[in-house]
Amino acid sequence: MKKMPSWLKTANFYEIYPQSFCDSDGDGIGDFNGIISKLDYIKELGFNALWLNPCYLSPFMDAGYDVADYYKVAPRYGTNEDLYRLFDEAHFRGMRVILDLVPGHTSDECEWFKQSCLPEHNKYTDRYIWTDCVWNRPQGYPLVAGNADRDGCYMLNFFLCQPALNYGFNAITHPEWQISYTDERVRATFDEMLNVMRFWLDRGCDGFRVDMADSLVKNDDDKSATASLWRRARAMLDGEYPEAMLVSEWCNAPRAINMAGFHCDFVLDHHGKLVYNATRNVKDGVNNSYFCKTAHVSAKETMRIYLDELCQTKDNGYVSVISGNHDEIRLSNALDERGVKLYFTMLLTLPGVPFTYYGDEIGMRYLSQTSKEGGFQRTGSRTPMQWDDKAANLGFSDACRDKLYLDVDRSADAPCVSRQLTDPSSILNIVKALNKLRAENDELQADAELDVIYCSDDGVLCYVRGADMAVAFNPTDEERSLPYAINGALFTVGGYLPKDGATLLKPQTAVIFRLNRR
Ligand code: NOJ
Repeated sequence: MKKMPSWLKTANFYEIYPQSFCDSDGDGIGDFNGIISKLDYIKELGFNALWLNPCYLSPFMDAGYDVADYYKVAPRYGTNEDLYRLFDEAHFRGMRVILDLVPGHTSDECEWFKQSCLPEHNKYTDRYIWTDCVWNRPQGYPLVAGNADRDGCYMLNFFLCQPALNYGFNAITHPEWQISYTDERVRATFDEMLNVMRFWLDRGCDGFRVDMADSLVKNDDDKSATASLWRRARAMLDGEYPEAMLVSEWCNAPRAINMAGFHCDFVLDHHGKLVYNATRNVKDGVNNSYFCKTAHVSAKETMRIYLDELCQTKDNGYVSVISGNHDEIRLSNALDERGVKLYFTMLLTLPGVPFTYYGDEIGMRYLSQTSKEGGFQRTGSRTPMQWDDKAANLGFSDACRDKLYLDVDRSADAPCVSRQLTDPSSILNIVKALNKLRAENDELQADAELDVIYCSDDGVLCYVRGADMAVAFNPTDEERSLPYAINGALFTVGGYLPKDGATLLKPQTAVIFRLNRR
């Protein structure tokens, strides 16, 4: 493996949407001190690294992905010092913390953008993408006209509130306003992002999840120009912060890892990708997710792209499979409780660096509702963590119900940490057992080989990690046979029976065992 931060191959991440995790001061919104108070819970579960969604100063038109000041945290979460303390408290427990870096755009309330809107030339004139005159508005670009005194249109990167920072163009089609990605002015924009990284790394942060990492340079079809910028970031880290990691929101591991130099790249809920195929493949009311018990689909197609990307990036970096994230419909939406347990068995036994989204470890539900802070349909996956069924607002906050960031799940059977802690067969305890097994066995961690040894058309899958650590699945609602004997399991969801030197897997079963290949 290429040189990596030493902690990465055993890293097991937990993603926190800070608004909704734990409110320590009763204002109805989660905060850093709330997160600190739950570090022991996260550690006990067996996670050793955290990713926090953006917590910088922001008008929160896109839940913080509209950054107004990269160097200051939003007061609703606490102070910069509180975040430094969170880094310290995590490190004290042997845990790492990465922040979210949003390099592609700022908020339109960012001081850089306000300066860039001025008609007078200044340091920020070229920090964003502008056309040369307000009437020059070529089709095909998301341009905004007439919103500033400056004579030009600016380009958006995502929502209306998010003007695109200027990383130039690869194919230049309008030379009167488009600059090359090799231009000095682009270098200045990227240098500022490197300084943002240095600022937080110097204060104890352990790396970054990088938002929309593939989209910096425009008209960059093969992504070669965007990749060249990121290689500079990797070189900076290798030289100055060799223990810091970068994980990209790219969803194309060969490009992100081999071309751009990211340590890890996410497998997201994109059509055809593993997370989608395994857990969210629902179309026109038909659920074809591999882990849906009625689907009976082969794991071959489910894993095809994943296996290919794994193979292509071997020794260069890690593919990061996720349970979900703040953009995706919750895991439990298309899977029943057993299906969720089976998926976690896969997530936590695959190579690479896994990420679990807060609340997925108890099977929190997707709660469809009105949009909050630019969440739209994503809002239903961002509701407060459910800690304690006996406490006000399920232990998330002491605030009155109408002050909560979002309401908690009020259903009588809402999944809760308190209840699941005492139930040995809860999702939470399954996740905990899997994390423990992963931590105790090198073969289940990031680097060990993955060899798919059996994959039937009717749903059975078996892969081996390292020399002989086997993981077998029958996600269907019928018994299935596995052509290997299981002589004692290290972990089971469901059940199995020996049969003529082979094994009968009961419906919705996963087994981890040592394979005897003789
Ligand atoms: C991807 C983030 O995950 C999402 O939440 C955000 O809205 C967009 N990027 C824009 O930053």
